[in-house]
This record gives sequence, C-alpha cells and structure tokens, in this order.
Amino acid sequence: MKPAVALATLASSTLAAGRTLGSTNQIEKRALATSDPFYPSPWMNPDAEGWKEAYAKAREFVSQLTLMEKVNLTTGVGWQGEQCVGNTGSIPRFGMRGLCLQDSPLGIRGTDYNSAFPSGQTVAATFDRALIYKRGYAMGMEAKGKGVDVLLGPVAGPLGRMPAAGRNWEGFSPDPVLTGIGMMESVKGIQDAGTIACAKHYIGNEQEHFRQVGEAQGYGFDISETLSSNIDDKTMHELYLWPFADAVRAGVGSVMCSYQQVNNSYGCQNSKLLNDLLKNELGFQGFVMSDWQAQHTGAASAVAGLDMTMPGDTVFNSGRSFFGPNLTLAVLNGTVPAYRLDDMAMRIMAAMFKVGKTTDLEPVNFSFWTTDTYGPVHFVANEGFQEINSHVDVRADHGNLIREIAAKGTVLLKNTGSLPLKKPKFLAVIGEDAGPNLRGPNGCGDRGCDDGTLAMGWGSGTANFPYLITPDAALQAQAVSDGSRYESILTNYAPAQTRALVSQANATAIVFVNADSGEGYINVDGNMGDRKNLTLWKDGDALVKNVSSWCSNTIVVIHSTGPVLLTEWYDSPNITAILWAGLPGQESGNAIVDVLYGKVNPSGRTPFTWGATRESYGADVLYEPNNGNGAPQQDFTEGVFIDYRYFDKFDTPVIYEFGHGLSYTTFKYSNIKVEKSNAGEYKPTEGTTAPAPTLGNFSTDLNDYLFPSDEFHYVYQYNYPYLNTTDPKEASGDAHYGQTAEEFLPPHATDSSAQPLLRSSGKNEPGGNRQLYDVMYTVTADITNTGDVAGTEIPQLYLSLGGEDDPVVVLRDFDKLFLQPGETGTFRGTLTRRDLSNWDVEKQDWVISAAKKKVFVGKSSRKLELSAELN
Ligand SMILES: *[C@@H]1O[C@H](CO)[C@@H](O)[C@H](O)[C@H]1NC(C)=O
Ligand SMILES: *[C@@H]1O[C@H](CO)[C@@H](O)[C@H](O)[C@H]1NC(C)=O
Ligand SMILES: *[C@@H]1O[C@H](CO)[C@@H](O)[C@H](O)[C@H]1NC(C)=O
Ligand SMILES: *[C@@H]1O[C@H](CO)[C@@H](O)[C@H](O)[C@H]1NC(C)=O
Ligand SMILES: *[C@@H]1O[C@H](CO)[C@@H](O)[C@H](O)[C@H]1NC(C)=O
Ligand SMILES: *[C@@H]1O[C@H](CO)[C@@H](O)[C@H](O)[C@H]1NC(C)=O
Ligand SMILES: *[C@@H]1O[C@H](CO)[C@@H](O)[C@H](O)[C@H]1NC(C)=O
Ligand SMILES: *[C@@H]1O[C@H](CO)[C@@H](O)[C@H](O)[C@H]1NC(C)=O
Ligand SMILES: *[C@@H]1O[C@H](CO)[C@@H](O)[C@H](O)[C@H]1NC(C)=O
Ligand SMILES: *[C@@H]1O[C@H](CO)[C@@H](O)[C@H](O)[C@H]1NC(C)=O
Repeated sequence: MKPAVALATLASSTLAAGRTLGSTNQIEKRALATSDPFYPSPWMNPDAEGWKEAYAKAREFVSQLTLMEKVNLTTGVGWQGEQCVGNTGSIPRFGMRGLCLQDSPLGIRGTDYNSAFPSGQTVAATFDRALIYKRGYAMGMEAKGKGVDVLLGPVAGPLGRMPAAGRNWEGFSPDPVLTGIGMMESVKGIQDAGTIACAKHYIGNEQEHFRQVGEAQGYGFDISETLSSNIDDKTMHELYLWPFADAVRAGVGSVMCSYQQVNNSYGCQNSKLLNDLLKNELGFQGFVMSDWQAQHTGAASAVAGLDMTMPGDTVFNSGRSFFGPNLTLAVLNGTVPAYRLDDMAMRIMAAMFKVGKTTDLEPVNFSFWTTDTYGPVHFVANEGFQEINSHVDVRADHGNLIREIAAKGTVLLKNTGSLPLKKPKFLAVIGEDAGPNLRGPNGCGDRGCDDGTLAMGWGSGTANFPYLITPDAALQAQAVSDGSRYESILTNYAPAQTRALVSQANATAIVFVNADSGEGYINVDGNMGDRKNLTLWKDGDALVKNVSSWCSNTIVVIHSTGPVLLTEWYDSPNITAILWAGLPGQESGNAIVDVLYGKVNPSGRTPFTWGATRESYGADVLYEPNNGNGAPQQDFTEGVFIDYRYFDKFDTPVIYEFGHGLSYTTFKYSNIKVEKSNAGEYKPTEGTTAPAPTLGNFSTDLNDYLFPSDEFHYVYQYNYPYLNTTDPKEASGDAHYGQTAEEFLPPHATDSSAQPLLRSSGKNEPGGNRQLYDVMYTVTADITNTGDVAGTEIPQLYLSLGGEDDPVVVLRDFDKLFLQPGETGTFRGTLTRRDLSNWDVEKQDWVISAAKKKVFVGKSSRKLELSAELN
C-alpha cells in the first residue's frame, strides 16, 4: 500500500469514498460506513487500579531512556530477525534484551517439549472458570520457561459471528459473557504465571476471507483494501467489545489490533477503536501491538493509538519500518508528540512490570524458525551462530490438566442409554478421525491438513504436539484391559469391510468424524481458512449413515472447529449417542475414553448452537468481494442477534441449542430466589485526566541519531531506531517526507492537555465505570441430583432484558455443581449493572431500560426450568 494513500485514510479516519465507489460494484449507490476521529491518544493513568506499582516502576525506568531506546521498545526487529515470531529491539545500556512475542492461544507455537492444549472453544465448553484459569496459568508457565514474554492469546475476535469462520475455535464462544469469562480467566492465568497476555484480534475480525490484501490476491481475488466490518455502536458495546472489556478489567497487558478495517478504517489506525473505545472508555493501560503486517502508516497509526509494530517491518523482510527510524524522525520533527512516544514506552514497560518481570530477562531458549540446536540468532540474516534451541522441557504435569479439560469440555449431545460403556463385548471403531496422521502428528506445517484425528485447527493458533494419543490407541488399550474384542478401521473409505465388521452380533460401533478450519494463509481442500460448508469432511455424513444403517448401536464422536450439520442423521434410532469432543489437544484419546466409559461423568455444554441448516444462522462469511476492487463490505446488520439470539428471535428449531449437554445422571431444578442488592444510583464518571507527562528531553541535532559508529554491525534486514544520514528525507526514504502534522493529522492529534473523562469509563478502574460491575441481584436455586451416579450440573442464568429490540434471553452467569446422588446444592448467580443494561447510543453510556426484566435458571438456553420477575 502506498503511504500517501494510507495517510489520507487516517486523516479523517474515513475512507475517501470516491476511491472505491464508481467502479462496478453492488454497493455503488450508498455511502460506505465511516469511523469518527478520536484524538489525542490517551496516556496512562498513574492511579489505575492494578497498575500503580507497575506505572511507578515504568516511569522511573522510561525516564532514563533516550528517544531511540524508547523507539526500540516500540519496534519489532523484522520478520525472522530473531528467535521469536516477534521481537522488539533491546536496551543494551540497561542490559535489557528485546521482548519475545510468541504464538499461540493454545500453547507455544513452533517449538518442542511444550504441551498442546485444548482449543479455547473446547475449554469454553467446560463452563468452568477454574479450568480456564488453570489452562491459562499452565500456558503462561510454559511460555515463561522458554523465554516468551508475551503470549499471543487469548482470542475474542473472532467472537463467532459466523459458524463457518476459520478461527472461531481459537476463541471461546459467540456468547459475549462466556467469552468474557474465558478472556478474564485466561488473562489472569497467563499473567499470574509471569507472562504478558495479549487480547486479540481487536476487533470485528470475524472472517479470514479478505483480511489481508496480499493473501486475498494470492487466492485470485482482485481487491486493493481489506474487508471492512461495519459495526454500529450499540452492537459494538453489547456484543463485540464486551469480552475485551473483561480482558481489560482483568488487567491484560497487551491487545493486538486486527488486519481488517472497521467502518473502512484499518484496525491498527482506527482512532475510534484504539483511542476512544479501548484506551479512553475501557481505560486500557497496556500496549497495543499490530497484527503481523497490519500496520499501514507510521505517525498516523502512532497518534491513533498503536504502541508497537509487529513484526516491525513495513512488509515482511523489507528492512524498512513505519516505526524505527521513521518514529525517531516523527518525534524529532514534531509530528508525533514526545509524550506519545513516552506513553508507548510506558505502556510496554508497565505491562512487563505488572506481570512481575524485571529488565533482567532470562535468555530466550528456543527458535521459532528451526528445530536445529545450533543456528543463527538472526534467522533471515543467517548470522549469530550459537545454541538457539535448548530443547527445554516446559511441560511439567500439564498432560493431566489437558486430559481433564478435554474430558470436561466434551459435550454429550445425545444418549439413549448406550453410554457409559461397561466392558462392551465387542467394540468396532470406525473412521480416519480415530487414527493417526500417517505423516505424524505434526506432519503438516501449522497443522495445515485434516489427516488422522483432529485435535487442533490450523494456522498460527497452533502448537506442536509432544505426542498425540489417538482415540484408537486409547480405546484399544481400554478394550484390551476390559477383555473386550476390539477392531478399528481407520479410513472412511472401506465400506465393505466396515459393513462386515459393524453388522456382526454384539457390535458397539463408534464412528469418529470431523470438520476442520483455520487461518487464511493456508488453504486445505478449498477451505481458505474459513470453512466452505458446515458439513462433515471426508464424507463423514455418508460414513455415519452407512454405519448406523448396519449397526443398531452406533455412537458418533465429532471433532470440529464449530457446529456441523447433523440434520440428516442425528435422530436415527440406531445412533444411540453423539458427542462433540471439540479440539482436545494432545490427550485426545485418553479424554474420550474417560467420557465414554464414565470415568468422567460428562458435563460439557455446547458453546454454540447446532442449527439444522446453514441459512438458519443468519450472518455468513463473505466469500466474494462485493465492492469492486475496493474494500469488501461486511455489514453487521443483524446487530446483537448472532447464534442462539438469532435462532430465538425467529423461534427457529435447532438440533441442539446453546448451553445443551447431557450427563449420566439427571438433575432437578427448584426454588428460585432473587435477592436485590443495594447497589445505589449509577454515577457517571466526571472530571478530567492529568495533562500528558513528558519523560525526559532529547536533542534535536540529527547527528545524535546516526548509527553509533562506522563499525556498528548492521544485521541484514534488521530494524534499528537509527538514521542513516542527517538528511531527514533521505533517512526516511519516504517520497512524501515533509508533510506537517497539520497537513495530515486530524485536529487534536498532538494535544497534551488534560482531557475529559467519559461518563462510561472508570475514573481509575480499567474495564469501564466501576459501577457497571456492581451486583444488582443475586439469583439462587436448588439443584438436586436425581439419578444414581455422582455428576456435575451447570445451571445457567439467563436474562430477558425485556425491550422490543432485545434478544429473547441472554446468558449472564453460570456455575458448576458437583452433586452425589440425592444431594441438593445451591446455585448462585449474579447480575451486575452491565448485565441489566443496554448501550444507549445517545447518552453514550449503559442504561437500564424501563422494560420488564425476567431471570431464568436452566439447563440450556432453551431449557429454562425456573423463572422470576425482577422488580
Ligand atoms: C461505525 O459506524 C456506525 C454507524 O454510523 C457507528 O455507530 C459506529 O460507532 C462506528 N464505529 C466505529 C468504530 O467507527
Ligand atoms: C536497539 O536494539 C538493537 C537490537 O536489539 C540494538 O542492537 C541496539 O543497540 C538498540 N539501540 C539502542 C539505542 O538501544
Ligand atoms: C532457557 O534455558 C537456558 C538453558 O537451560 C537457560 O540458560 C535460560 O535461562 C532459560 N531461559 C528461561 C527464560 O528460563
Ligand atoms: C519510512 O516509512 C515509509 C512509509 O511511510 C517507508 O517507505 C520507508 O521505507 C520508511 N523508512 C525507513 C527508514 O524504514
Ligand atoms: C516527520 O517524520 C515522519 C516520519 O518519517 C514523516 O512522515 C513526516 O513527513 C515528517 N514531517 C515533517 C514535517 O518533516
Ligand atoms: C451377543 O449377540 C447374541 C446374538 O445376537 C446374543 O444372543 C447375546 O445376548 C449377545 N450378547 C451380549 C453380551 O450382548
Ligand atoms: C464440505 O467441505 C469439506 C472439506 O473441504 C468436503 O470434504 C465436503 O465434501 C464438503 N461438503 C459438501 C457437501 O460439499
Ligand atoms: C456408504 O455405503 C455405500 C454403499 O455400500 C458406499 O457406496 C459408499 O461409498 C459408502 N460411503 C462411505 C463414506 O462409507
Ligand atoms: C438399524 O440397524 C439395523 C441393523 O442392526 C438395521 O437393520 C436397521 O435398518 C437400522 N435402522 C436404521 C434406521 O438405520
Ligand atoms: C542504512 O544503511 C544500511 C547499511 O548500509 C543499509 O543496509 C540500509 O538499507 C540503509 N537504510 C536506509 C533507510 O537507507
């Protein structure tokens, strides 16, 4: 992209519509969505709760830094410049190495002796805060052991607007409350372990198609700008921003802005998103990093709220950066105010101190780019040979946790009595998804294939398996120890042998099927990240139908990245059980054995709806550009009505509803009680911030910014903060160099005066006005185990907000009760002010409407056993 265009894009924070209109397109006649400018970029609050100590330490440190040392903190060294997927410059004067940023949301990507955890979506299905936290903590510990400072997860974008979207499995659920809890517990876990978490991809990053121009062109799509997710303010607050607010409230240290545009302004330079919503309204104190190559401007993105560029180069391996020397120059020539650079450095250092790091960081002991023990530290430059992989085993006993999460995240969708298995006479296991990938569990780079059992999706959101227990291996071991007969057919394409096997007397057939998806840069079987359909892969439906037509006791296990259509066969009387095992990670086989045999009484709940048809979900992936060669436009016209809210709105029948999941026992609900708390009146926040502090001064003599000496060793394609020459235009190399701030930055972009606080923001509390989180009601109910085995119930608290435009019900809380047969436990859930409110676009605040509200406690979004009015 040409910088001049990019700067213009930012100037109004809107796209010059003329550029994209006028061509042959379907959007021709209407104006494209725009994004209002919001400046200046908020600076850190010294009194922010949870950040005070970190702020003080950061301030002391950053005050001692030179301008170029600060620039070093903000600028990645370039793609493959060092050992991690992203590394910042170092501060040798204080003995601080550059930060190591590394994927992924389910483990450490591309290394060895690490664990492969269940996906975010699978841990969401546990509806278990403690397990989500433990997973985060374990991942944070593994990251720390390798020298990773920032672990690039958890994910709330995609939220899951569209079931076919490729990366939904990296996040948690299309329900914002469940995802919010997933974000909060994961952030706490990762950061308690001493690693900075990264809430991503902020925001509206709901599909893979058209997220990057180059990627789309590689697939033959002629577009010149990325997709624009056009989201109205109310939907933004009530749905997509909600879980990010929880991440901020949990103290998340970093946020990654997304590739695509929102309202036709790029995610990493959209001042409304970064300055206003994230830093001002939510009071985010950490730093914003770009997704890899998602930055398109320098000074302009800095004033719009971007704090760190990743991986640092303009495009991979250009050896040039929008920050680096350009940021040095931009501060020197006054385009980017010095306080903004100070704030960028402050946010990065404060996040480090907040999680307990010091500037004395242990060495990184792996290389993302190779598994060789000895190799180049600077991979692309091929220099700095030393031991780069120490093969440190960071797994500890995480295998047990992974098995527990995978089992407790498995959802028993249907059971007519065949489960749990008890020493079955003859077990016939059918399907490729039960067996190994013949090329090895890591045989496809970034898991970019669907061979053998599916335990992880594909893309950057992956980790290498240290081993992968297949369902076949674990089931066979169990069968042998039980004295069962056991045979498996690990292909979907042996109908004759399959029929001969499963139609034998006494067969219990377990069919394993799957559906995969992942990140856009890998195309698997015509699925460019996003799934092209919602059906099972590799003729899974035919396989299930075949087996169940030959065997009256057929159990189906599904591994998938989201819902698949079960419509054709789910109600067959021969299909006696259906389980969704998500993406279970390395302990897949052991976990499914635990559930099938009742060693773990299933308690997973589906974190999304299983619709009967693809169309019944409403919103869908945009697969073809719809705006000529301009930015494809995705209008989020369905508002807050995604997943169950959409089905409920039209009362559409579903196969299995959101929140559904069976147990080997049964539960009775009774005695709902609602207690009102005295939370007091809501007080909008008032007042102003302090003016922006400036930390230290700097020379304006360009001679002081040249490379330190002629002997300085310049690593090939590496980004430094230094200038090559004292001629600024030449040093920048930007043909448009010399435009003043007034010429291309919006009004107030450089303002450092005290700024008014938003009524909806917290005075000193990250996550929004503290009173939004006041508990207004506590709801209790009695839950009794009426079956004959111990089991876990997950009572869910739903709310009807009562307004005409409100969903029928929304999930607001849940709990997990382990009960012995006959035992009664008390469910307790709360409703906060935010839970009861709608976002008022006029007031720009959360408001509790006058509509009559009702609470429900139930087993799922459609099994609302108990209800009560709220007064
Ligand atoms: C996008 O446009 C809608 C409609 O004008 C507006 O409500 C919303 O606040 C805008 N969002 C952003 C991030 O600019
Ligand atoms: C910036 O970081 C690079 C790479 O780590 C390092 O070589 C250089 O000395 C640093 N510069 C300053 C001014 O600290
Ligand atoms: C990684 O391992 C090496 C070699 O054992 C060690 O020197 C280094 O301190 C370790 N790094 C971290 C972050 O623990
Ligand atoms: C400065 O940024 C421009 C794009 O705005 C880029 O073309 C140029 O190469 C950058 N300069 C350096 C030294 O990285
Ligand atoms: C200041 O530096 C930035 C970054 O190189 C450049 O884009 C801008 O044109 C410069 N402005 C002036 C007034 O020199
Ligand atoms: C096995 O099948 C035979 C023939 O249908 C039947 O008589 C027998 O009861 C079955 N045994 C078990 C354990 O299911
Ligand atoms: C859906 O996509 C999968 C994966 O590419 C493919 O195996 C399957 O045949 C497709 N289903 C239909 C009905 O086309
Ligand atoms: C299902 O069975 C039919 C009839 O035997 C066969 O033609 C077809 O290939 C089978 N499909 C699968 C996926 O097993
Ligand atoms: C159920 O399985 C039996 C074989 O045990 C078969 O005869 C029957 O047709 C199957 N029924 C269905 C609905 O597939
Ligand atoms: C700066 O100098 C180095 C070393 O000569 C060279 O590799 C690099 O491309 C130069 N950068 C610019 C922006 O000219």
